[in-house]
Amino acid sequence: MIRLHVNVDHVATLRQARRGARPDPVEWALQAEDAGAHGITCHLRRDRRHFQDDDLRRVRERIRTLLNLESSLHPEMIAIALESGADEVCLVPENRQEITTEGGLDVVRERARLAEVIPRLRAKGIAVSLFVDPEPDPLAAAAEVEAEYVELHTGCYANASGEERDAELERLVAAAERAHALGLKVNAGHGLDYDNVEPVARLPHLRELNIGHAMVGRAVFVGVERAVKEMLARIEAGARG
Ligand code: PXP
Repeated sequence: MIRLHVNVDHVATLRQARRGARPDPVEWALQAEDAGAHGITCHLRRDRRHFQDDDLRRVRERIRTLLNLESSLHPEMIAIALESGADEVCLVPENRQEITTEGGLDVVRERARLAEVIPRLRAKGIAVSLFVDPEPDPLAAAAEVEAEYVELHTGCYANASGEERDAELERLVAAAERAHALGLKVNAGHGLDYDNVEPVARLPHLRELNIGHAMVGRAVFVGVERAVKEMLARIEAGARG
C-alpha cells in the first residue's frame, strides 16, 4: 500500500493571510488522519511564511500517525528538527524568493554538510529523506551520505504535458529503479493533484506520496474528509494499474 502523507502548510498560508488563529493546520491534520491519511507533513520555513514553531509543537503533540518535517540545512532549522520529535525529516533546499520549493537538494554539493547532519538526526531516531531531482548524481550522493529515503521531485512531471510529461514520467521511473538498486527507499511529491497522481502511484518501489496544495484547494469545495478520501482512491486506482 502506498502511504499518503498530507502536507498541511497551505492551511497555515490561509491563516497567515490574516495573522489570526484560523484555519488551524493542526485541526486540518487531525481531520485528514480521520479520513485515512497515513502521515502528516509540514515545512517549517526559515522565513516562517506559513507553518509556525507553535504549530510544529502542537502537531507533534496531537497527531497519531507519522510526522514528516521538511527542513532546510540551515543550522537554526536543523537544531529545531533535532528537537521536533518528528518521525521523518525531509531535507529540502530553501530560497527566500521562491513561491514554493523549486528544485531538489544539491546533494552532490551539500555532501559534506549532509554527512555531518544525517548521523545527528538518525541518532535521535529520525528517518532522513532527501528531496532530490530524479537524476543519477543526487541519487548516488544520497546513498553515499546514507540517507534512508529519497523523495523524488515530481514538479517537472506535474508542470509538463503531452509527450514531455511522458518523458518526465520515464525519468521518474528510471530514478525510482536506480534509487532502489542503491538501497534507498522511494518517496515522491510536489505538484501532484487529482488528475496527475495515478501514473506516479505506479512508480516502482514507491512507498509514500507527499501531497498538499491540491488537497487543501479541493477541501475548500468538498471538505477535508472527501478531499483526502478522493486522493486515496486515485492513488489506489493508480497503484492497481
Ligand atoms: N514534497 C516537498 C519536499 C515539498 O517541498 C512540497 C511542497 O511543500 C511537497 C512535497 C508538496 O507539494 P504540493 O503542495 O505541490 O502538493
